[in-house]
Amino acid sequence: MNFRFTEEQEMMRKMVRDFAKKEVAPAVERMEKEDRFPRELVQKMGELGLMGIPIPEQYNGAGMDFTSYIIAINEIAKESAALAVILSVHTSVGTNPILYFGNEEQKKKYVTKLATGEYLGAFALTEPSAGSDAGTLKTRAKKRGDTYVLNGSKVFITNGGEADTYIVFARTNPDAGSKGLSAFIVEKDTKGFTIGKKEKKMGLHGSNTVQLTFEQCEIHESQLLGQEGEGFKIAMANLDVGRIGIAAQALGIAEAALEHGVAYAKEREQFGRPIAHHQGISFKLADMATNVEAAKLLTYQAASLRTNGEPCGKEASMAKMFASKTAMKSAIEAVQIFGGYGFTEDYPAERLFRDAKVTEIYEGTNEIQHIVISKHLLK
Ligand code: CAA
Repeated sequence: MNFRFTEEQEMMRKMVRDFAKKEVAPAVERMEKEDRFPRELVQKMGELGLMGIPIPEQYNGAGMDFTSYIIAINEIAKESAALAVILSVHTSVGTNPILYFGNEEQKKKYVTKLATGEYLGAFALTEPSAGSDAGTLKTRAKKRGDTYVLNGSKVFITNGGEADTYIVFARTNPDAGSKGLSAFIVEKDTKGFTIGKKEKKMGLHGSNTVQLTFEQCEIHESQLLGQEGEGFKIAMANLDVGRIGIAAQALGIAEAALEHGVAYAKEREQFGRPIAHHQGISFKLADMATNVEAAKLLTYQAASLRTNGEPCGKEASMAKMFASKTAMKSAIEAVQIFGGYGFTEDYPAERLFRDAKVTEIYEGTNEIQHIVISKHLLK
């Protein structure tokens, strides 16, 4: 296996790293304190072409490969995991479902705007009683003439309240289990569609997470994505790919924890020498670096499969599971290395610690990733 990046991919890395260092890093403290959606950074990402990296040029995207997109999320996450998830959800599960399952009219109407960042995308699958068991969701979409009427609610919707379009999953057939679900494109400001409570989260401050309610929300049948009954398949297929984005985000957190840990350990002296020269700390750093490297290989292997149009569901789940565990472990160790300072807001370790946790939860908990991986092994 060869994981050397191409010249184009290296250029992407450099461009995004510059953006992350110069524009994202200085904004993090404010995002943390105010928990305010970074609209200006999202706009800037649009100007740089980052909101549509793997989207074909014919739909206003950058027309670059999937690995370049993963590189961008990875680099942004090193500075802000919150901005990284905004980009990942927008692209992987907010735009791709329309690109891969939409008709030409839907692609022209929505993908062209999502790819430039004029529109922001969101994905509405999870419900209060249907999280991991997504196939049991209850939001109802009843056909009435040439419309569908949506009733129900969604929770934990990333980019919610800020997005222009929502890929909403609803039940069109109450008797068909996961085969009775359909996917719809719902625009913000549609009558009967309201944005509910904004969650106060442990981490990822700046990334919006809200509840949604649909009450007699009428949408035209032309907003149906794919065929009736294809909703679950659309959700799963896009989550397969989306999970590589979350792996890249988690990898970025882990790399940042390692980088800060190394720098601090070299600088901080105790017992007459830098703490990096005490085995208790240097071994921690060695373990963190080894796990980071393994997470990187899994993440970019999954990305490379996707780039080459090969199946990547199993590898995406492996990457997401391993990278998220690595993010959590690295962040815990970074706090430990920083000691008392690691427990304060003056240093980045505590933010990385808080941001890491959710990567083990969203886009399928790590318990669900075990199920996905074992299903692939046993089928
Ligand atoms: N691609 C295409 N089709 C798929 C598929 C995939 N990856 N996985 C399953 N399917 C199809 C199956 O082939 C099957 O169809 P057939 O009967 O015709 O073969 C059908 O879907 C049902 O499959 P399963 O029996 O495997 O489904 P299940 O009910 O056992 O559920 C699951 C499988 C993996 C547990 C799934 O429910 C799941 O992934 N749950 C987690 C949900 C999730 O990830 N939510 C994330 C929310 S979004 C988010 O978090 C975004 C954010 O904010 C960051």
